[in-house]
Amino acid sequence: MRPISAPHPAARFRRLRSSAPLRALAQENTLSVNDLIWPVFVCDGVGQTQTIASMPGVVRRSVDLLVEAAQEAASLGIPAICLFPYTRAEVKTPNCEEAWNPDNLTNRAIRAIKAAVPDIAVMTDVALDPYNSNGHDGLVRDGVILNDETVECLVKMALAQADSGADILGPSDMMDGRIGALRQALEGAGHQNVAILSYAAKYASAFYGPFRDAVGASGALKGDKKTYQMNPANSDEALRLVERDLMQGADMVMVKPGMPYLDICRRVKDTFGAPTYAYQVSGEYAMIKGAALNGWIDGEKAMLESLMAFRRAGCDGVLTYFAIDAAKAIRAGKA
Ligand code: PBG
Repeated sequence: MRPISAPHPAARFRRLRSSAPLRALAQENTLSVNDLIWPVFVCDGVGQTQTIASMPGVVRRSVDLLVEAAQEAASLGIPAICLFPYTRAEVKTPNCEEAWNPDNLTNRAIRAIKAAVPDIAVMTDVALDPYNSNGHDGLVRDGVILNDETVECLVKMALAQADSGADILGPSDMMDGRIGALRQALEGAGHQNVAILSYAAKYASAFYGPFRDAVGASGALKGDKKTYQMNPANSDEALRLVERDLMQGADMVMVKPGMPYLDICRRVKDTFGAPTYAYQVSGEYAMIKGAALNGWIDGEKAMLESLMAFRRAGCDGVLTYFAIDAAKAIRAGKA
């Protein structure tokens, strides 16, 4: 495409900005409730909500209250909810067995939501870090994050989630070969319609800090995740990872974090045309929310502008902690 225009004054770009109806006609991208996936934190107990200091407005909920929250999301038209467990330190081990316990927090939450709110898709996180006493996404031996042994654990974990009724699995660990292994296991177990949304291009980012507080992983993590998550300086590598995961059976792919990586979203969408999602991560949420709470920016406008940016960059949807607020604003005609 090579956009052309006449010289001034034959072309005046302000004509199409001169009134609300003309601006509406000339609008290139839209933001809809259908574009939202809501990440939520689940904790033990009954009737429990716990605040998260670094994510104002976000809470952990016990399963019963999570079901109510899922109900609200579904009634707003949000298509999917994504579960992250806050695992008690006592059940974290070096071998991460809790990850594939059929009665772990995530699997109980999946069953409860699927039973009570059939209209919302349930997405899960497939990674060992909530269950790992050393905070890493993979098994660790002598300080090394093991790849193939971790993939075997991920397969067990994913099958337990699929058996519990998960609709979309989100492998977020960045081990090599996991998508093919998960797909083969799902097909073998009769879970043909369980979708995989691969965290294909996930960067080793400072923007995950508040999330690690939310899932109780901050204290446990020794070192960093640079041997498995991507170098923020790289872009071609993201395309190779997305291609690899699509070839292994991913239905959808994700770029993470979101706003600092919109160039990656655009390249991925243009290159493969696959269903492409971005994760507006905890640190991005905290920046917008923190500035808004200080009165430094208009929080609602900044939220909607940030979400539209993902659409403009080619994303089909976005995982965002703002999903409920965004859905309400969109339904009120503000986007
Ligand atoms: C872990 C995982 C992380 C996030 C989602 N899954 C953190 C990490 O890789 O350390 C981050 C989400 C966010 O920051 O909102 N597998």
